[in-house]
Amino acid sequence: MSDTLTQTRLAPQPAHVPDALVYDFDMYRDEALNENAPERLVDIAANAPPVFWTPRNGGHWMVTRFRLVTSAGRDWEHFSSEPFTPEEAEAMRAALPPDEQIYLPVPILLDPPVHTAFRKPLNLVFAPKAMMAMQDSIRRLAIELIENVKDQGHCEFMSAIGEPMPVQVFLEMFGLPLERQDEFRKIVSDHLSEDFGEVADQQRKLRDMAKVMEDTLLDRRDNPTGDLISRLWQTTVDGRALTLEDMQNYCILLFIAGLDTVMNAMGYAVRHFAANPELQEELRANPALIPEATEELLRRYSFVMSNRRAASDMTFAGAEIKAGERVLLYNPAANVDPDEFPDPGTFDLHRENKAHVTFASGPHRCLGSHLARIELQTLYEEMLARLPTFRLDPDKPVRYRCGPVIGPRSVHIRWDV
Ligand code: HEM
Repeated sequence: MSDTLTQTRLAPQPAHVPDALVYDFDMYRDEALNENAPERLVDIAANAPPVFWTPRNGGHWMVTRFRLVTSAGRDWEHFSSEPFTPEEAEAMRAALPPDEQIYLPVPILLDPPVHTAFRKPLNLVFAPKAMMAMQDSIRRLAIELIENVKDQGHCEFMSAIGEPMPVQVFLEMFGLPLERQDEFRKIVSDHLSEDFGEVADQQRKLRDMAKVMEDTLLDRRDNPTGDLISRLWQTTVDGRALTLEDMQNYCILLFIAGLDTVMNAMGYAVRHFAANPELQEELRANPALIPEATEELLRRYSFVMSNRRAASDMTFAGAEIKAGERVLLYNPAANVDPDEFPDPGTFDLHRENKAHVTFASGPHRCLGSHLARIELQTLYEEMLARLPTFRLDPDKPVRYRCGPVIGPRSVHIRWDV
């Protein structure tokens, strides 16, 4: 076992958790997940308890089945997205120096009705029509990145295309400087690769993120352009103008979501295409099937989980969960639940039911899903049209990075030139 996978210490099993509901799973360091995430997720969905408590990472619950994940996702009154109770937030505020604030990515860490008010401005800026307007520039970027590697007959997909494409799309849409993309990416990937940590630690990381964007935020407030930051400044929440604190809280979330999501879907898909040349042929012959293939790829290879806290004591699917306990809705396992999807580990382009929870369910359903789908479909169209049949490099197997987002670290592919 490598050093990075050294297992963390075990939290003591609470008295209300029976042995039958304990399943030792480290979402960051599980060896099988790091080795082959798509297979390990199928194994969890089939063999782990539907709701289990793991002693890793401080001890927390995980929900792994489709029906349970969707119902908990919608039930914000029991499964709260707020990381602290109002009393804890008050105590934190009281302990801060007067010029300091609590950094709280919004709207993802709010419950309705406040969540609804904070989500509204984003509904406007992420509307399907606004995202469709970006398709031409997304296509130009995809073509440029593919053409850069086409003549060399091979590439490491993540670094050549999978990472730069969504990162550049996002930075341009957001209005952040492209030349700082490596610095921004590092901040987000460090943030996601470390386990939950203490509240003070998390606050320090979120403050650092807010600070790298602060100059741009202030500049766009005073000199608006057409970018997303400028448009957000012009919106209101419940009729009041946004403050710098509001903007920082919005932008921290968008920074994380924009810089570390779409690339994982791309990496999984290209790995799947490369391992299945007959699928490449089918889609080259009939590109109209690409949107459907994109949905089935999103179902089979999903990678973002939903983080919740029990708002009160409850019994959920036979598990006694106490107020304040952390509950992770494991969307990537729910999407391969054998009770919902027959033969769930198989990619089936013609599967009747592809209704997945990759973008979650309930009030926090992903706002970036329209943008993500445009980027994914455009990339697949251009890769299949511009490259001949590509295959996985047998000497460089795919490994995964695991945590709240699970994705391929590298995907080496080859084609004939
Ligand atoms: C394939 C790519 C993506 C996946 C799989 C994904 C997945 C998710 C999931 C599962 C949630 C819900 C989290 C929860 O329940 O707590 C979420 C929320 C969100 N996502 Fe995405 N996301 C993707 C891309 C994006 C992009 C590109 C953006 C924006 C640039 C974005 C912006 C957001 C926002 C703002 C929320 C919070 C919505 C709310 O709390 O109401 N996402 N995403």
